[in-house]
Amino acid sequence: MLLSFHSYKGGTGKTTLVGNLGILLAKNGQRVCIIDTDVSGPGIHSLFDIKYEKTLIDFLQDACNAKDVVYEYGDLDLFIVPTRACEEDISTFFKTPQEARSKMKELIKSIKSEFHIDYFLFDCSPGINKSSLLVMNIADEATIISTIDVQDIRGTYILSSMADKLGTHANLLFNRTPKDKQKEIGDVVKDFSDKLGTNLLGSIPFDESVARTWSRKIVMLDDPGCAYCVHLKDIADKLV
Ligand SMILES: Nc1ncnc2c1ncn2[C@@H]1O[C@H](COP(=O)(O)OP(=O)(O)OP(=O)(O)O)[C@@H](O)[C@H]1O
Ligand SMILES: [Mg+2]
Repeated sequence: MLLSFHSYKGGTGKTTLVGNLGILLAKNGQRVCIIDTDVSGPGIHSLFDIKYEKTLIDFLQDACNAKDVVYEYGDLDLFIVPTRACEEDISTFFKTPQEARSKMKELIKSIKSEFHIDYFLFDCSPGINKSSLLVMNIADEATIISTIDVQDIRGTYILSSMADKLGTHANLLFNRTPKDKQKEIGDVVKDFSDKLGTNLLGSIPFDESVARTWSRKIVMLDDPGCAYCVHLKDIADKLV
C-alpha cells in the first residue's frame, strides 16, 4: 500500500508524522519503507540519523540500483530511502511526467520485491509542486496535513481538489492544534472536511514533548505513551 503525506504550507509536521508512523507500523510487525521525496528540503535522513551515500536522486538519475538507496533501520523491518537536497524538482530529470511516474514505479516495484514491503510512506515537499503531485498521483491514499491556520486551510482546499482530479483518495489531518481547544477544533475540522468531502482522520494536538525533540529523537521509540503517540495510534488505525 502506498501512503503519501502532503501539505500546502511547510512545517505542518509531515516528516515527524511519517517517521513516527513508520516506527509504529514496523513495531506492529509490518514491513515499512519510508521514501523521502522532499528534495527541496529533505529531513528524513536527519530524523533517523542516516549517513547516506546514494540517495533517491541517484536512482532517479540512473546512477545506481534501487537497493543501493535503501538503508535498513535498527532491528525493525523499517527501510529508508533518503534524498539529498537538490535545487531542481524531481520532474526536471525526465522528459515527460509519464517517464517520471514510471521511474518512481520502478523504484517501488524493485524495493517491494527485494524487501517484501507492506507499506510505503512518502514524505513530500510542501506546496503545490510537480514532485508532490507526482507522488500523489501514484499513491493509494494521500493524506494532507494542515494546521488550523487559514493560510494552510485555504491551500488544503486546493490540494484536496487536486487529489480528486488525480483520482487519489484524500485524507485530511490537522496537526499542532492548540491542546486546550480540542472540542472547538473538533467541530471546526469536521465542518471543514464535510465541505471538502474529504475523509477526516482527526487532529493531533501540539505536544511539547515532540516540539522539544527538535527532530533529534523519534517519540514513538523514546516515549510511546506521550499524547502525540496516543493520537497517532488512533490515526494509524483509521489510515491502514
Ligand atoms: N503535534 C506536534 N506538536 C508539537 N510539535 C510538533 C508536532 N508535530 C510536529 N512538530 C514539530 O514541528 C516541527 C516541524 O515538523 P516537521 O519537520 O515534521 O514538518 P514538515 O511538515 O515535515 O516540514 P517541511 O514542510 O519543512 O518539510 C518539528 O520541530 C517537529 O518536531
Ligand atoms: Mg519535512
